[in-house]
This record gives sequence, structure tokens and C-alpha cells, in this order.
Amino acid sequence: MPGGCSRGPAAGDGRLRLARLALVLLGWVSSTSLPSSASSSTSSASLPAPAASGQPALPGRCPPPCECSEAARTVKCVNRNLTEVPADLPPYVRTLFLTGNQLAVLPAGAFARRPPLADLAALNLSGNRLREVGAGAFEHLPGLRQLDLSHNPLADLSPFAFSGSNASVAAPSPVAELILNRLEPPASVRQNRSMERMVAAALRAGHALRGLRRLELASNQLLYLPRDVLAQLPGLRHLDLRNNSLVSLTHGSFRNLTHLESLHLEDNALKVLRNGTLAELQSLPHVRVFLDDNPWVCDCHMVDMVAWLKETEIVQGKGRLTCAFPEKMRHRVLLELNSSDLDCDPILPPSLQTSYVFLGIVLALIGAIFLLVLYLNRKGIKKWMHNIRDACRDHMEGYHYRYEINADPRLTNLSSNSDV
Ligand SMILES: *[C@@H]1O[C@H](CO)[C@@H](O)[C@H](O)[C@H]1NC(C)=O
Ligand SMILES: *[C@@H]1O[C@H](CO)[C@@H](O)[C@H](O)[C@H]1NC(C)=O
Ligand SMILES: *[C@@H]1O[C@H](CO)[C@@H](O)[C@H](O)[C@H]1NC(C)=O
Ligand SMILES: *[C@@H]1O[C@H](CO)[C@@H](O)[C@H](O)[C@H]1NC(C)=O
Ligand SMILES: *[C@@H]1O[C@H](CO)[C@@H](O)[C@H](O)[C@H]1NC(C)=O
Ligand SMILES: *[C@@H]1O[C@H](CO)[C@@H](O)[C@H](O)[C@H]1NC(C)=O
Ligand SMILES: *[C@@H]1O[C@H](CO)[C@@H](O)[C@H](O)[C@H]1NC(C)=O
Ligand SMILES: *[C@@H]1O[C@H](CO)[C@@H](O)[C@H](O)[C@H]1NC(C)=O
Repeated sequence: MPGGCSRGPAAGDGRLRLARLALVLLGWVSSTSLPSSASSSTSSASLPAPAASGQPALPGRCPPPCECSEAARTVKCVNRNLTEVPADLPPYVRTLFLTGNQLAVLPAGAFARRPPLADLAALNLSGNRLREVGAGAFEHLPGLRQLDLSHNPLADLSPFAFSGSNASVAAPSPVAELILNRLEPPASVRQNRSMERMVAAALRAGHALRGLRRLELASNQLLYLPRDVLAQLPGLRHLDLRNNSLVSLTHGSFRNLTHLESLHLEDNALKVLRNGTLAELQSLPHVRVFLDDNPWVCDCHMVDMVAWLKETEIVQGKGRLTCAFPEKMRHRVLLELNSSDLDCDPILPPSLQTSYVFLGIVLALIGAIFLLVLYLNRKGIKKWMHNIRDACRDHMEGYHYRYEINADPRLTNLSSNSDV
């Protein structure tokens, strides 16, 4: 502004504006702390992201280690070794990638902000070495739809992680997709805490996840599905239990899941599905079931499942299912089996065979020990036998003596002599 130096107030105004701009650029001031002057640059700051004023207005700052895109409403804090959730997340954020860091612990209200991150819909926390997720860790995220906690060694997942920190208040969670693949607590923790029960408690607590539509629990080494774990998730559409160690399915696990569309059970340890489970799966109107890569045991217990497979339409790629046991049936296609192929009698199942061998070994050992004891004690036994024999002889001799005392004429004489 040439020649404007003489007008003091105008120059002061310009300086002030420059200073403000610098502060805004540095990201040091919050919009509310500025005096509400008439200037256009600050008026838009109190509302989140109108972004219509042409200027790069102040919709919230980007935390230094992160990359933010307001146009995509995405914030990425990826592989930054962060140990806590950044405090100053921009309020426009809809998708937050907070992956590959070292958060370790996620406390209550880890994402609670003032004003709340109302638009945050997708939160990816995978690979953060999370050990502990506290009660109410995702509180005050009213728009959260998708939550990914995969690849974390979760040893301590609070039962109220998805509901609220105040257990006495039922707080429904808005989450529709919950992704919990590869939660790999160290073996020492696994011994103490049952992964199955820990996850089940969090899924059940307070009916909070009634709105859940997708649940992924793949690669978690689950051995069983806890009873009623899915009973509180009536809206479930997709359930992924791939690559676990499920040995069997308990009757009732899938009851009431009438909206279920896909059920992934590949890569487990399933041996056979029983009548109850077959009926339950068949009763789900929209479901497609995936059963590949399980070690099916083709003995007489398989008859019902084979008959069902031949009829049902719900198993995807049912022609691919093959027997793993017994040996003579290996690689036989389940669909091509006749009930005459499926018997239990001639060959004992391997588990039973080993138990018989084990019983034989135990009996042989007991016998050997018995003989050894006899052998080591042979002197004592001999002595004992002698004692018994001697005792018998003494007894017999006494008997003889008394008997003979009357019979022996010499003794009779002796006694009569002594009388004299
Ligand atoms: C994170 O920590 C690892 C190991 O300490 C280091 O190699 C890496 O450079 C760090 N990354 C960042 C972004 O600081
Ligand atoms: C979360 O991030 C991980 C790592 O980048 C990625 O593999 C995964 O697909 C993401 N999850 C979702 C739901 O996009
Ligand atoms: C939990 O909620 C109840 C009912 O609103 C309230 O009385 C109680 O103080 C709350 N507890 C905590 C720890 O906030
Ligand atoms: C497992 O439990 C035992 C006994 O309750 C305890 O001494 C040990 O520290 C626990 N281990 C872990 C890893 O929590
Ligand atoms: C299956 O899960 C185990 C751990 O439970 C993991 O090491 C393995 O990579 C997983 N396999 C696949 C194909 O995801
Ligand atoms: C779930 O199934 C049980 C047994 O079939 C039934 O008694 C119960 O009413 C069902 N619950 C819902 C919510 O449909
Ligand atoms: C299973 O159901 C079929 C038909 O409903 C029946 O014929 C069969 O006996 C049942 N099997 C068992 C073990 O109950
Ligand atoms: C199974 O039964 C069908 C028809 O009953 C027959 O054609 C087929 O040869 C049988 N397969 C075996 C392996 O016995």
C-alpha cells in the first residue's frame, strides 16, 4: 500500500492481519481465541469446514506426523511410531488411518474431542501393538461405522470396549463393521486368558452391538465359539471365522441370525457337522456357507452331513470338500460318498487306536513293575515263606507233642514215675 504509511490505524490493521495470517499458517491459535472482528478471514472458523470462502480457511489443523486431505476427509498417521492418539484431529475427518504405530494402550474416550469428531466413520487401528483396549475407548464417535483392530496383540480387551465406560448405562454402538482379524496375544497371556471368552464378553456386553452387520474374526486360533456369542448380534450379515481352530460347531450358535448372508468357516479343524447344526444352517434363509479346507472325518458319523450336502444349495463349492481321515478315505470327495463307504467298524479311528495302544503299554508297565518288586524282595519273600513254614511246623509239632504225650508209653511212664 504505497503512501498509506501516514494513516496509523490502517497500518496497524494491516499488521494485525499479517500477524493473524502468520499465526494461522503456523497453526498455533485456535479460532475461538481470536477476537471476533469484522474481517472475513476469521468469521468462518467457528463452523467446521464450510470451505466455500475460497481461502484455505481454518477447519482444524493437521497433527504434525499425519497427512491430511480435507477434500477426501481423510487423515493418515501411518507407521509413525505414535504412542498415543493425536489430540488435535481435524473435525472434518471421516476416515482415519492410525496404523503401524505403537499405541499399546487405548484408554477410555481416546477419541472424545470437543466438539466431537461427529463425521468419523471409518477408524483403522490395525498394527498398533495394542495390548489393552479400555472400557469406552470409542465413546463420543456418533458416526463410527467401521472399526478395524486387526493385527494387534490384544491381551486385555475390556468387555465394555464397544459399549461405554459407564457399565450401568446401556450405550448402543453405531459400529456396523467390526474387524478383529489376527489378534495375537503372546502365548503366555493366552494360557491365562481365554481369547474366546474375552472376545465374546466384548461382543455381548450391554447389547451394544445390535447394529453390527459384519464381523471378522479370522486367524485368531479360536478353538470354539462360546455359547450365545452371536445371540446379541441379530442384524449380522457377514461372519468371517476363517483360519481358526474350530473343532466343532455347537448347536445353537447360529440360531436367530436370520439376516446372515455369508458364513466363512474355511481353514478350521471341523471334522463333521451334526444334525442340529445342519438344520440350523439350513433354516437361515439367505446364507451361503464356506467350508473348504477342513479335515473332514469320513466315518459313520458323516452319513447325515453327506446326505445333507447332496441336497443343500447353501454350501459354496460343495464339490471341493474332501475327506482327510481315515487314511483309506483320504482325498475322497464328500459328495461322491455312499453310506456304504461310511463305516466305523473295521478300522478304529486313530484316536481310539492310540488309546488302546496306550492302555496296553500301561498294563505291561504295571505287570513289569509287579515282577520287579517280587524279584527285589525275593530274600524277604523266602524268609517270609520260611517263617510261615516254621510257624506251621511248630504248630504241628505242638499238636503232635500233645497228641503223642498221651500215646508215648515212655512219657506215660515218666509221668507216673515222677508222681511217685
Ligand atoms: C520407528 O521406530 C523404528 C525403530 O525404533 C525406527 O527404525 C523407525 O525409523 C521409526 N519410524 C519413524 C517414522 O520414526
Ligand atoms: C486397515 O489398514 C490395514 C493396513 O494398512 C489394511 O491392510 C486394512 O485393509 C485396513 N482395513 C480396512 C477395513 O480398510
Ligand atoms: C453411570 O451412569 C449412572 C446413571 O446415569 C450415573 O448415576 C453414574 O454416576 C454413572 N457412573 C459413572 C462412573 O459415570
Ligand atoms: C498367569 O497367571 C499366573 C498365576 O495366576 C501369574 O503368576 C502370571 O503372571 C500370569 N501371566 C501373565 C502373562 O499374565
Ligand atoms: C492363519 O492364522 C495364523 C495364526 O493364527 C497365521 O500365522 C497365518 O498366517 C494365517 N494364515 C492365513 C492364510 O491367513
Ligand atoms: C431366538 O431363538 C429362540 C429359539 O429359537 C427364540 O425363542 C427366540 O425368541 C429368538 N429370539 C429372537 C430375537 O428372534
Ligand atoms: C439326522 O436327521 C436325519 C433326517 O432328518 C435322520 O434320518 C437321522 O437319523 C438323524 N441322525 C441322527 C444321528 O440323529
Ligand atoms: C454310490 O451309489 C450310486 C448309486 O446308488 C452308484 O452309482 C455308485 O456306483 C456308488 N458308488 C460307490 C463308490 O459305491
